[in-house]
Amino acid sequence: MLRRSFLQQTTAAVVGTTLGSFATPSWAKRPLPAERHGRAHRLFPSDASAASGSKFAVATVHELASRTALDIFRAGGNAVDAAVAASCMLSVVDGHNSGIGGGCFALVRAPDGQITAIDGREQAGAAATPDMFLRDGQPQPKWSQTGPLAVGVPGQIAALQRMSKQLGRLPWRDLLLPAAEVADRGFLMGRLAKVVAANAGELSQFPESQRILLPGGKVPTAKTLLRQPELAETLRQIAEQGGEYFYRGPIAQQIATHLQAAGGILTTDDFAGYEAKLRTPLTTQYRGHRVVGFPPPSSGGIHVAQMLGMLELFDLRQVFQRDPASVYHLWLEVMQRAMADRAHWLGDADYTQVPRGLVDPGYLFQLAADIQYGQTRPVNGHGLPPEAESQFFGDKHTTHLTTADHEGWVVAMTQTVNTSFGSKMIAPGTGIVLNNEMDDFSIAPGVANAFGLIGAQANAIAPGKRPLSSMSPTIVLNADNQPVLTCGAAGGPRIITTTLQAICRVVDLGQPIDQAIAAPRVHQQWRPAEALIESNLDETIKSSLEQRGHQVRATGSLAVAQGLQWLGDGQLLAAADPRASGTALAE
Ligand code: GLY
Repeated sequence: MLRRSFLQQTTAAVVGTTLGSFATPSWAKRPLPAERHGRAHRLFPSDASAASGSKFAVATVHELASRTALDIFRAGGNAVDAAVAASCMLSVVDGHNSGIGGGCFALVRAPDGQITAIDGREQAGAAATPDMFLRDGQPQPKWSQTGPLAVGVPGQIAALQRMSKQLGRLPWRDLLLPAAEVADRGFLMGRLAKVVAANAGELSQFPESQRILLPGGKVPTAKTLLRQPELAETLRQIAEQGGEYFYRGPIAQQIATHLQAAGGILTTDDFAGYEAKLRTPLTTQYRGHRVVGFPPPSSGGIHVAQMLGMLELFDLRQVFQRDPASVYHLWLEVMQRAMADRAHWLGDADYTQVPRGLVDPGYLFQLAADIQYGQTRPVNGHGLPPEAESQFFGDKHTTHLTTADHEGWVVAMTQTVNTSFGSKMIAPGTGIVLNNEMDDFSIAPGVANAFGLIGAQANAIAPGKRPLSSMSPTIVLNADNQPVLTCGAAGGPRIITTTLQAICRVVDLGQPIDQAIAAPRVHQQWRPAEALIESNLDETIKSSLEQRGHQVRATGSLAVAQGLQWLGDGQLLAAADPRASGTALAE
């Protein structure tokens, strides 16, 4: 019904263009690169790094991590082994985004179709209180973003070890030692040097961070060799002794001692009490596909499902053919509706009641019912899902990586230390960049975090609670339960909206995953009420959105995504986002 009326509207007057004559954007017209077997391949600077093969595939944000995964595959490892090894390598070569001082969510599909969701999200210490970031009743966002109070108990090693033990094949130590070796030997910093330069002011407040990243107070260049011998030793010891060394041994001791001396609250007991939790994956339907996302404390799974549920009501393929701007408009409309729900309802489901009705198709129909083709409609607040009182979920930072193999193992994993270099602290003697994930809690109602996100009671701080995350590792399956694509991204709340657009482009618009990831994106997170667009978005689409009432603001780049697609002929296509210098590899 709604679908028909929308299509009727699209066949009426279209703002700024004539139906049927809309110029197809250049990225959509571009043919697929002719040759991309087995190695990273870029025809144009704006192309994703893409590679296809029939045995295995990987896409990460760093070439060394992707190459490590490939080595592990060649040594007989499965996609889980490859993902764990790549993840550890990212700790070394991409430590501003993620690492063993941070956390992650991983979705793993086994060859028998079973999907496991592993929650390695950071956790608040036992001494955390809802008002720990207030002074005289005033919020102090700086404290939740930088320094000792910002740090949550890291979950990365616990999650990786759980993945490796339960689902991997190669010995744990073999997966960590390549990363230890690169930490020891060093690597050319490349774009990491720019991130250090951009954060030099805050990093230099912490002597260990300054010593390692800004030696002698000098800002590094792309050609600087970064050696991290302490991190190498930490990784070697964890490789030999397992997660115990981190959570109940010298590392917990060193981090807790250092944080407490600096005014922090984490204790060795907080580390000893940490466990990576198994969650029940969130599965919803979209156009005959099963979309498997991560449940709370991720907000991503629920919101991708919400937005897709609203979009079910529209025939995006037809709309795109007639007027691409309308698809962007629809994306922005569903984004603000889902994000308004996020701010009110979502938090760690172990601590707060997150209604299952948020993904109820009837509820999503209601949320979408006032969407109009010709103009944006302000969203005043959250919706009221069915059975909100009784049915609950039960149980340019950050980075996403994905691996798969011909046996049927698939990994979609997003990991983070939160903002660049997390708390900006490196615990002396460990080489570990400590996260600032406490900033993902709502430090006070209505107070924005580093991503401009506001929250409510559901995401307030409590001892042992995990902060709400936007990380959205996603696996899409067909009606026969076979994988069609994986996707996920880095970039705070833009992760969620980026994942949505990648799925729609593949499923609705029939684009290959590398083009889907490379295409210009939009983002709306309800508050602030503005439509962010990437600056290379077609001018005609931009003015069409403005004429529909969107408060448009152009920005350089929205999130960094990685993905995989099953091409149907036994070929896997891996893609790494051109917005960062990631690498896709396959054989
Ligand atoms: N730290 C960003 C997120 O988890 O959403």
